[in-house]
Amino acid sequence: MTALPSQQPTPARSLAALAARKHGADKIVALTAYDWLTASWLADCPLDFLLVGDSLANVIAGHRSTLPVTMDEMIYHTRMVVRGARSLPVVADMPFLSYEISPDDALRNAGRFIKEAGADGVKIEGGMDVIPAVEKIVRAHIPVLGHVGLKPQSVLQLGGYKVQARSPQSADAVRAEALALQDAGVFALVLECVPRAFARQLTNELKIPTIGIGAGNACDGQILVTHDLLGWFEPPKKFVKLYAHFRADAVRAVSAFARDVRAGSFPSPRHSF
Ligand code: KIV
Repeated sequence: MTALPSQQPTPARSLAALAARKHGADKIVALTAYDWLTASWLADCPLDFLLVGDSLANVIAGHRSTLPVTMDEMIYHTRMVVRGARSLPVVADMPFLSYEISPDDALRNAGRFIKEAGADGVKIEGGMDVIPAVEKIVRAHIPVLGHVGLKPQSVLQLGGYKVQARSPQSADAVRAEALALQDAGVFALVLECVPRAFARQLTNELKIPTIGIGAGNACDGQILVTHDLLGWFEPPKKFVKLYAHFRADAVRAVSAFARDVRAGSFPSPRHSF
């Protein structure tokens, strides 16, 4: 069946359109979303896509790492975000062990995000090890966003969340992974926690857009965890600028409510029937 014009993503708001933003003045801007309400107001903002990050394991579920989050949990959250995102494309993060076992398994899980949750693409963390999985998913016409540099799903092996590509050997390894992912067909690449000079060099070398998080301002775009920039977590991480102080405001508001109730000033006649 042919899609009606109103069902087609507008060119400016499709993942396919992002390739044209390489080296453009118009930087790609993306944020995370994990639920319908957040996605619905983010859809009012000038963003290019939403990522249902596996960071929901930390931000929403309170885990110490992203490792525990399951495919079923990611599908549940992706469905909510897709309902709120309207015409904004939604990329779903493939969780730990959803793509490492075999390329067939990776495609099956990527397909679940498209068929069961309505996502527009998937993100996969990793380098050389994930190339067969990425190739298989891209061959099935599912857009894949790569993710190199700091890979939070490798935290056990890395021994912590550390800046990558600092030594020449580490920089060479990240560069090789990025080039291999580009050849495998990713539409763009998240570069997490690498020195800005390295990110600039790699951005110049690649034909696909780079989207930085803790990677300086030379990338073709930027992505952040929405809850970080809104100040739900303070103090902020080094690479996050606070644009609001939601946690402090919420604590102030709820404390004022509790005070009013105890003082008998809420509900007032104005708030009563
Ligand atoms: O899960 C996540 O939030 C990410 C970041 C790149 C935003 O992968």
